[in-house]
Order: sequence, then structure tokens, then C-alpha cells
Amino acid sequence: MKTSGLVFFLTSAIVFPGACLAGDPELAQTPPMGWNSWNCFRLDISDSMIRAEADAMVKSGMKNAGYQYIVIDGGWEGYHDKNGVFHPDSKKFPDMKGLCDYIHSLGLKVGIHTSPGPTTCAGHEASYGHEKQDAQTFARWGIDFVKYDWCSADNVYQSDQMQAAYRKMSDDLKATGRPILFSLCQYGVQDVWKWGQSVGGQMWRTTGDISDNYNSIILHGLEENGLERYAGPGHWNDPDMLEIGNGKMDQDEWRTQMSLWCVLAAPLFAGNDLTQMNPKALAILTNPEVIAIDQDPEGIQGHCVRQEGPTQIWTKSLAEGGQAVALFNLNAHPMTITAVFKDIGLPEHVMARDLWLHKDLGPFNGRFTFVVPRHGSMLLKVN
Ligand code: GAL
Repeated sequence: MKTSGLVFFLTSAIVFPGACLAGDPELAQTPPMGWNSWNCFRLDISDSMIRAEADAMVKSGMKNAGYQYIVIDGGWEGYHDKNGVFHPDSKKFPDMKGLCDYIHSLGLKVGIHTSPGPTTCAGHEASYGHEKQDAQTFARWGIDFVKYDWCSADNVYQSDQMQAAYRKMSDDLKATGRPILFSLCQYGVQDVWKWGQSVGGQMWRTTGDISDNYNSIILHGLEENGLERYAGPGHWNDPDMLEIGNGKMDQDEWRTQMSLWCVLAAPLFAGNDLTQMNPKALAILTNPEVIAIDQDPEGIQGHCVRQEGPTQIWTKSLAEGGQAVALFNLNAHPMTITAVFKDIGLPEHVMARDLWLHKDLGPFNGRFTFVVPRHGSMLLKVN
């Protein structure tokens, strides 16, 4: 698979001689942040509810915290007309350009979902055979972000054509002249982290779909350990969207997803209903000291430096020289976690700050020990 991918990469570079092989370096210098309709609303979306979510993004303080993209996931699609122009489902989205203009008027950006296959995962029309025209339509509406989801593409492409299918849409988006962030969604197959950037992606899903439970978020996040060398400014591993504020996890678990995503320098896409925001979820999603770890300009993805039974310690180097240190307790009861500095690459004497509590702790000599709640985490900044 690896060899045929490489051969295909080389031949398709010849087929598309004008193609720019890397993604737009201006886009996604830090992990993209926004909101996506899928986790909470599935296909039940419309112009009015997307406007309400965009309004809530501003009013809740999410925009001020750095969230920017409002992504309309699957469920907006109508049909391609006889001239090949893509139209939304007019009952749900009567005026897509008007909706994009409205979202832009709030100082936000707009994303949309489609597939390189003939249909989306829900069986609605998608972009196969219409890539160029769809890219132009998206640009005309004012779209700033395209999530390109493999879905039915296996019905029309061989697996060794996957990279070319992604490169095609990326080139068509670039040819519109509008900066459009390109988000690959093919569930991490074929080691996408090794080629996602070369086909024009700024982010790529590393896994299948996340769901609203602790095991799912932990699996999606921890699976990225070892992929850190593939992430950096302009190109990010994406363990999928946040489930914070949806119904099935507790606050410690929400904090764990945020700690893990921030130490991973993962894209942060809220997936809850922003119009019915739980105040505790809001505080977790907008904690500025925690978001600063995710958005650190150096763009280093953290990694696991210590695992002992059901506990893990992760570190992430920061631009200004310190480290973020995250402690995770995967157990179903509280655990005491000790970090011995020399074992995890820290100096003997450190100052630490608890970023969830906004509280300076320490100084510490040689080690620190904390009790971490079940399924909980701590996120520290250590200098
Ligand atoms: C899945 C994708 C989800 C969502 C959904 C829409 O393939 O992983 O994030 O976009 O399709 O149908």
C-alpha cells in the first residue's frame, strides 16, 4: 500500500504539473477553531438554526475565545442542475450566499461538507464529476472551509486513487483564488498524515467518527501518540470534533477531552448546541490558558512520555521555552499520579501553574504528585 501510494503520488504530480504540492501556508498557522453541526444535530440542520448557532458563537464568548469557523456538515445538499451547478436543499437552505454573508457579518467564517464520491455518507448528492464547478460554487457563496469526506468514493475510485481525488479538489479550490481551508476526512486510512499536506490539506482526520462517551474520546486522542512529527503550522492531525457540552459525559471527562486535544495541538471544533450552552461546558471550551496551549505558535504536537497502568503523562514544548504537562487518569476511580522530572525530560527544579484552576503551584524539586479524579486530567504549564 505504501509503495503504490508513493508511485501514485509521483505519477499524479506529473498529471497535474501546475499543482502546488503543499497546502496554503497562510491558512491554519495554528490549529483551526470553530463549531460543526454534526455531533449535535446530524442531518437536522437549516439556515435558521445555523444562524442561531453563529449568533450564539458570538454572544457566548466563544468567538472572543478564538472559535472562528461555523461548519455546515452533511444535510445541506440538494441537487446538481442540468448545467452541473450544485444547489442546496432549498427547503432547509433557501439562500446559501445570504447565509454565508450573514456569518461573515458576525466576523466568523463558514465551512461546508461534501465528498469526492457521488453521494455523501447519508446518500445525498456530492462532488464526484463536479469538483471544479462545486469549488467555484463554494467560492461564490463565500465558503472558507471544505470538509471533504470519503463516504461513497470507494464506489468510483480504487484505493490507490485516493490521494489524486483529494489533490483534485484541493487544486480546484485553489484555482478559485479564494483562500479555503481544506479538511480531509477519510478516517485516517492509508496513513493520511504522511500525505495529507502534499495533497493540499491543512488538517486530516486520523480516526473514524468520535462519539459522546469517554472511551471514544480517549481512543481518538491517544491514538495520535507517535504522529507528532506530521503536525505543525499549516498542517494538523485531527482526532475529530469535541463532545464537550453534549449529554453523556461529566465535567471531568469534558476537561479531559479539552486537555488532550490542546496538548495534541488538535483542531478545536465544538460539537454542542451553542444556543443551549451549559455554563460549565462554556467555561471549559473558553478557558484562555488552556486554549493558549493548543494555539501555541510553535505548533508542536505533544506526546506521551510516561505510562503507568491506567495513568499517562504527556508533554508539549511551548514557543517561549516552557512545557505543557498533562496528567490523565483513565481509571474509573481517583488515582495518585507522580511525575518524576528526570523521567519525563523536565529540569530538577520547576515552577508549575494549574491551567484549569488558574493557580500557581510549587516550586517543585524533582517530582510532583497529584490526585487526579476518575477519567480526569490536569493540565499544567511548567517553567
Ligand atoms: C462522516 C464523518 C462525520 C460527518 C458525517 C456526515 O463520514 O466522519 O464527521 O461528517 O460523515 O455524514
